[in-house]
Amino acid sequence: MLLVTGAAGFIGANFVLDWLAASAEPVINLDALTYAGNRESLVSLQGDSRHIFVKGDINDRPLLSQLYATYKPRAVVHFAAESHVDRSIHGPGAFITTNVNGTFSLLEEARLFWNKLDDAEKSDFRFLHVSTDEVYGSLAPEDPPFAETKAFEPNSPYSASKAASDHLVRAWHHTFGMPVLTTNCSNNYGPFQFPEKLVPLVVVNALAGKPLPIYGDGANVRDWLFVGDHCSAIRSVLEKGRVGETYNVGGWNEMSNIDVVRTICRLLDELAPDSDGPYERLISFVKDRPGHDRRYAIDARKIESELGWRPSETFATGIRKTIEWYLKHKQWVLHVQSGAYREWIDRNYEVGQ
Ligand code: NAD
Ligand code: TYD
Repeated sequence: MLLVTGAAGFIGANFVLDWLAASAEPVINLDALTYAGNRESLVSLQGDSRHIFVKGDINDRPLLSQLYATYKPRAVVHFAAESHVDRSIHGPGAFITTNVNGTFSLLEEARLFWNKLDDAEKSDFRFLHVSTDEVYGSLAPEDPPFAETKAFEPNSPYSASKAASDHLVRAWHHTFGMPVLTTNCSNNYGPFQFPEKLVPLVVVNALAGKPLPIYGDGANVRDWLFVGDHCSAIRSVLEKGRVGETYNVGGWNEMSNIDVVRTICRLLDELAPDSDGPYERLISFVKDRPGHDRRYAIDARKIESELGWRPSETFATGIRKTIEWYLKHKQWVLHVQSGAYREWIDRNYEVGQ
């Protein structure tokens, strides 16, 4: 059995759906259902006894202790986090509580459980920590992409909190011998992503005829990874990754934000044309994000040479699948656009930006 944290969120939900499509091994899904958690993403698993949903916080140590003792998971896959850079600028506290303290709680309870296992179970156990390329900081245009050996230089409260959690995971291996693995991946996109992140925000706003906000000059570069590819990378690392190692996961798809937005607009022109004209007319440059990292890029050669993993989607194929998914799931979008979501949009995109 796997204990998966944060699997009512974007990547975790995709991971559990993919996992249970291919495996009989059950999953305990521990999720606090913050604004980013959405059980509707997992509605297709209703009545499936292989999916055990537990609403709870990764900081609740008695609950964690009980879950480890009851289910005796052979592995933990840790997605739960506060994940949005812009929210970390408006309110960093929750990022420390969940990403730093929460990871500590999860590690400590895992260690207490792991200590009681016999030798064979101990060496088979895995704690896989899902992290981000943002821990490495920002690159200049001519810099090589991030390798696993790159020093951490986090610049936002989000990336600093994730870097702290990565360090804890590393230390639990070196000090206590726990069999941990860490993955640092680039920007994911795909089905079930909350529409406050760039890709779904642009799709949803365009379809509603609303402005498509681009921070600063739109020349910031990200590497884009289709979420299904990220999930297959995590499965590879869980199965074959060398204990104590970190693996960078990327899509080999570096693109500027403005190019991402234009690509989405053109695909929407084809798949859902608007009688008022091309969607690019909605592009609107707004005030830059404070401390906005200029460029992220991932060198994903280690995971390819050691584990044989490569992404199967290009940006062109992945973004088409993503847009088709959003066009087919308008109800899902409507339901996540709650009062809390609208408040966030008002706060982040203040009039006059
Ligand atoms: P998300 O914000 O969509 O989902 C996070 C989930 O964690 C939600 O379901 C939320 O309810 C849950 N959660 C939050 N705090 C919790 C707590 N204290 N206890 C239990 N559950 C809690 O995030 P995501 O985009 O799916 O990201 C998943 C992981 O991948 C995160 O660790 C993130 O840092 C990492 N990551 C994401 C991206 C990306 O592009 N989305 C890129 C790199 C790394
Ligand atoms: P985001 O999806 O928030 O991911 P991250 O900050 O983790 O990379 O943003 C992706 C890029 O898009 C980032 O450079 C910020 C930019 N962006 C905009 O230009 N406008 C927006 O409205 C949002 C949400 C992001």
